[in-house]
Amino acid sequence: MAGDALNPRNPQDDRTRDDVVEAALGKLGLDTKTRLLAGQDMWTLPALPEIGLGSLVMSDGPVGVRGVRWTADDPSIALPSPTALAASWDPALARRAGRLLAQEARRKGVHVLLAPTVNLHRSPLGGRHFECYSEDPHLTGAIGTGYVQGVQDGGVGTTVKHFVGNDAETERFTVDSVIAPRPLRELYLAPFEAIVTNAHPWGIMTAYNQVNGTTMTEHRYLVNEVLRGEWGFDGYNVSDWMAARSTTGDILGGLDVAMPGPQTVYGPALAEAVRAGEVPESAVDDAVRNVLRLAARVGLLEGAPPAVTELPAATDGQALARELAARGFVLVRNENAALPLRTGPGTTLALSGAAARDARVLGGGSATVFPERIVSPLDGLTAALPQGALSFCVGADPSEELAPADTGFTLRAVCRDASGTVLGEGSLPTGQVQWIGDDLPAGATYETMASIEVTGTFVPRESGEHAFGTRGLGAFALAMGGEPVWGGVQLMGNEADPFEAFFGAPNERARTVLAAGEPVEVSLTYQVPDMTALPLKAVMFSLLHLGPRRPADELIAEAVAAARDADTAVVVVATTERVESEGFDRKDLELPGRQNDLVRAVAAVNPNTVVVVNAGSPVELPWRDEVAAVLLTWFPGQEGGAALADVLLGAREPGGRLPTTWPAAFADAPVTDVTPRDGRLEYREGLHIGYRAYEKAAVTPAFCFGHGLGYTDWTYESLEVTADVARVRIRNTGGRSGREVVQVYLAPVADPVERPASWLAGFASLEAGPGESVEAEIALPARAFEIWDEEAGGWRRVGGAYEVRASHSHADTRLTATLEIR
Ligand code: BGC
Repeated sequence: MAGDALNPRNPQDDRTRDDVVEAALGKLGLDTKTRLLAGQDMWTLPALPEIGLGSLVMSDGPVGVRGVRWTADDPSIALPSPTALAASWDPALARRAGRLLAQEARRKGVHVLLAPTVNLHRSPLGGRHFECYSEDPHLTGAIGTGYVQGVQDGGVGTTVKHFVGNDAETERFTVDSVIAPRPLRELYLAPFEAIVTNAHPWGIMTAYNQVNGTTMTEHRYLVNEVLRGEWGFDGYNVSDWMAARSTTGDILGGLDVAMPGPQTVYGPALAEAVRAGEVPESAVDDAVRNVLRLAARVGLLEGAPPAVTELPAATDGQALARELAARGFVLVRNENAALPLRTGPGTTLALSGAAARDARVLGGGSATVFPERIVSPLDGLTAALPQGALSFCVGADPSEELAPADTGFTLRAVCRDASGTVLGEGSLPTGQVQWIGDDLPAGATYETMASIEVTGTFVPRESGEHAFGTRGLGAFALAMGGEPVWGGVQLMGNEADPFEAFFGAPNERARTVLAAGEPVEVSLTYQVPDMTALPLKAVMFSLLHLGPRRPADELIAEAVAAARDADTAVVVVATTERVESEGFDRKDLELPGRQNDLVRAVAAVNPNTVVVVNAGSPVELPWRDEVAAVLLTWFPGQEGGAALADVLLGAREPGGRLPTTWPAAFADAPVTDVTPRDGRLEYREGLHIGYRAYEKAAVTPAFCFGHGLGYTDWTYESLEVTADVARVRIRNTGGRSGREVVQVYLAPVADPVERPASWLAGFASLEAGPGESVEAEIALPARAFEIWDEEAGGWRRVGGAYEVRASHSHADTRLTATLEIR
């Protein structure tokens, strides 16, 4: 692919870096070495000027680069969710995304991106499903490889995460993921192995959870023997945030860096453990070497050549975000070629759905970034259609709960000391305050700050009864128009999660009737608790709001009336931040609120109803056969609405194929329970997740793995196979240029061992003009024919006859050939 030759790995530079690292290590005393292995704050490691080492800065990841400050004052490009990137089935595109993120990281002074997330879609309930790529390890590994290569092309490090078995969120800090050796190797470790082998990542992040009884930051076997030993990983291993819990366990388990700081199990505690003879100093040296090698690679160690000297050409972030969004959209149904829309003078489009106006462009949790702008579907279509062609009504609003104050609010946070003197202030993008570590407004400190007031004006969009509330733990006082309306204390609930303030339930505190367009002063004051004894100092709380609720039937009736008179109806349905987020798992796959009723009612009056699904992971679509078209847009990133207009109106085709199976009903999903029992989550289904499980159980999903329609047609003309490669010739038999993802599956004819009935072995994404034919040369990796032999403890090739399938999707095979493997 373009730019592959940039900064090829140079063995001489590797040796020079190793020499400089060795010399620097030799100059450091034990206390300095152990200090280097502990975060000095939330995101950085200390600088050591005596060896010419700069301070290493890390930042989340994966859809944008937040930078060290969690604030909208320093915006970031927000790309589509990882599910969307994987839906492109295009590692070269993932590489371009990575290069943009490296450019963003450099702009923000970040050296290491805390991404990609390559855990698997084991169950659609997984709270971070949107943040992972796929249910298939090969696709995950290929997209992750492209992403890591792209970020590192730009001289910025990656940390492939969360190593390993972090496939759900319930009890995530402690859960023991119990995984037998074969599924562990063939499914969950496989993407990590592929990325380490093919992209040489400079970092890895070990997960919070345990695997088979050992916590991952202390897992000597998986880290020291498998990752470093078998796969030859030579990067640094950083703990997930607050995952490091044992000084000796962690250092002997191969953990190099304990984050965040300043209070960690490393630093002085590690130096003490060495002095007490509990840990050999050589273990500390190994970890320091890994950190210095990383610093050398990113250009932070004087005298060592950085891995990248020639930067890729600059990327236009907005343009790439728009292209990526369209390339990830999956058109799963398109009856009578409903899309692209046929527009002309006088044609009308009735748009409905709350998310059409307030788009959900990214998922919740540490992946959150603050983009400079968000193009909603309403914005995108308004810009693309002639005046008067578009109407909008809410139709159904899934946000039935209070959420951080947003549209209409202009807020700032004011920090005061105990006497009421202002110490510092900062602007707030929403009602959410999340200051972690030193990330405080200038002038304020944890020691001096007694209160934080979130204050400003609210100009309501609608007249009626507005609800206000709080999220977070502690003492609050709420005032409206200068009058106190509530004061009280929120205590920790039963589920003691340190991130409760982030992910916890919202609490309604007051209601008041307001008029549209009339500004009102709002103020929420929070008493800052004493944090002296806490390992990590942070304030997290939110001012919440919920606008007036109009009767649901009235909203639906309004949308139906508009749809009845329009040529086309477009309904945007969505999940909310309380449904899909880091920190908790989903309970079911239902669309919240009355959205299903809205779709059915609109479809009943307009045969050209197109439904746009704005969700990061599968949801049930019980009306899918009653509408003309269904377009899955995931969390489409900041330019999602512009890309939507491109695709609906035909300027681009929807390029995506499903990276994960969409069940017809939740009960059909292979894994429907992610709640640990007695702290253990048993991966009982073994090798059978995703499409492998549907095939085994003979269950037909709503939309199968690999499915997705473009705007042209393809004929598969020939398939030739050898043990190493499948050559597939396809022809674009439609009327416009397009792109096809050719998928190659293997199905053993008579299997001597237990294996899935078929699995993805390779794929290629090809472009062709109308009438043109193109050939895909798809490598069949040796691993595709191997199983992990639990008795021998090694990989074993399984000989015999295989059917090789050249397919448009897992369920749509176009050509087959037989291959004899020895
Ligand atoms: C998440 C990581 C993230 C880290 C830092 C953790 O809670 O699991 O994915 O990189 O926080 O924000």
